[in-house]
Amino acid sequence: MSFDYINALLKKPVSRTPVWVMRQAGRYLPEYRATRKKAGDFLSLCKSPDLACEVTMQPIDRFDLDAAILFSDILTIPDAMDLGLYFTEGEGPKFSKPITRLADIESLSRPDVGSKLAYVTDAVSVIKKSLNGRVPLIGFTGSPWTLSTYMVEGGSSKSFSKVKGLMYENPKHMHQLLDKLADTIIDYLNGQIAAGADSVMVFDTWGGLLSKKSYEEFSLRYMTKIVNGIKRKHEGKIIPVTLFTKGGGMWLEQIAASGCDGIGLDWTVELGDAQSRVGEKVALQGNLDPCVLYATDEKIREEVKALLAQFNGDTGHIFNLGHGISPDVNPERMKTLVDSVHEFSTNK
Ligand code: CP3
Repeated sequence: MSFDYINALLKKPVSRTPVWVMRQAGRYLPEYRATRKKAGDFLSLCKSPDLACEVTMQPIDRFDLDAAILFSDILTIPDAMDLGLYFTEGEGPKFSKPITRLADIESLSRPDVGSKLAYVTDAVSVIKKSLNGRVPLIGFTGSPWTLSTYMVEGGSSKSFSKVKGLMYENPKHMHQLLDKLADTIIDYLNGQIAAGADSVMVFDTWGGLLSKKSYEEFSLRYMTKIVNGIKRKHEGKIIPVTLFTKGGGMWLEQIAASGCDGIGLDWTVELGDAQSRVGEKVALQGNLDPCVLYATDEKIREEVKALLAQFNGDTGHIFNLGHGISPDVNPERMKTLVDSVHEFSTNK
């Protein structure tokens, strides 16, 4: 089986530019809201392999997408480390037992992924069966740095003062935490790959908050450890890995040097400029501003066309938004986006 999404990541020939969208399974879809209601809440949805499969398939059934992404969350790992994850409506994720003392880092358990996170690998197996080779499945994780921000702040944050304070005051403990996370993530991604994930992606949502020096030391170093630590081949097939640092556009050369196959771009960088900087080395994913989906169909088509035109050559680009799709987007606009990527890239 040959998939445009995998081929684009490996810079092999494609029939047209592949497209998928971050958070493609989510609240903007009425069928997602119905399944979440059936599950009771978001975490129960993540923890039920059958319901996670149901919502993973919803955007695949509705749109002509080139990849499915496992329905889960990046915070499954700190949850498995017993930090007590919960979600409050409208406020995002929270931990009942965040890391508040240095001793919490030393005593943090490295969870047995095979048992504590079996619901994730089980979901991968169920989804693979359901996909039956239609499109490839993307597995994912949060980056060690991004996970540590939630674990130390106790949830989402505006200033990130606690985690950045820890980084400057106690770099040794910060490294200890990041290293434990990286080791757990390697087990976690290898579990997803063994269960059938065709590629994996690392979400470094908060790497862009760092200085260049801190980014290299506290975020990129551990993503590089993950790139080197995971199985890049499974059952004879290469498993490509994509790194996405939101706000990381200044550091594309450094990210490309990690050995990853693809770099996810947010909308603040020019795709053509990114390609001339690192396009020889890696594939590029992105990077339409998610807010374009609030515009008319005509404008969406125009923006898609312009973005595709920035990219030279016919492989090495995976179309996506620069960040997740918003919950209040009309699903019809998403259809316009997906269809226009295919329309304009077939005869590019
Ligand atoms: O892309 C996909 O379709 C796969 C599913 C997926 C979710 N979260 C589902 C989700 C993925 C890849 C994630 C990753 C994730 N989770 C990230 C990194 C990506 C990014 O957006 O930068 C982060 C930072 C999280 C942590 C997280 N999970 C937050 C901050 C929130 C609250 C956000 C909000 O809008 O309320 C979540 C919850 C979450 N994860 C939802 C979904 C569909 C919404 C939950 C709901 O149904 O209410």
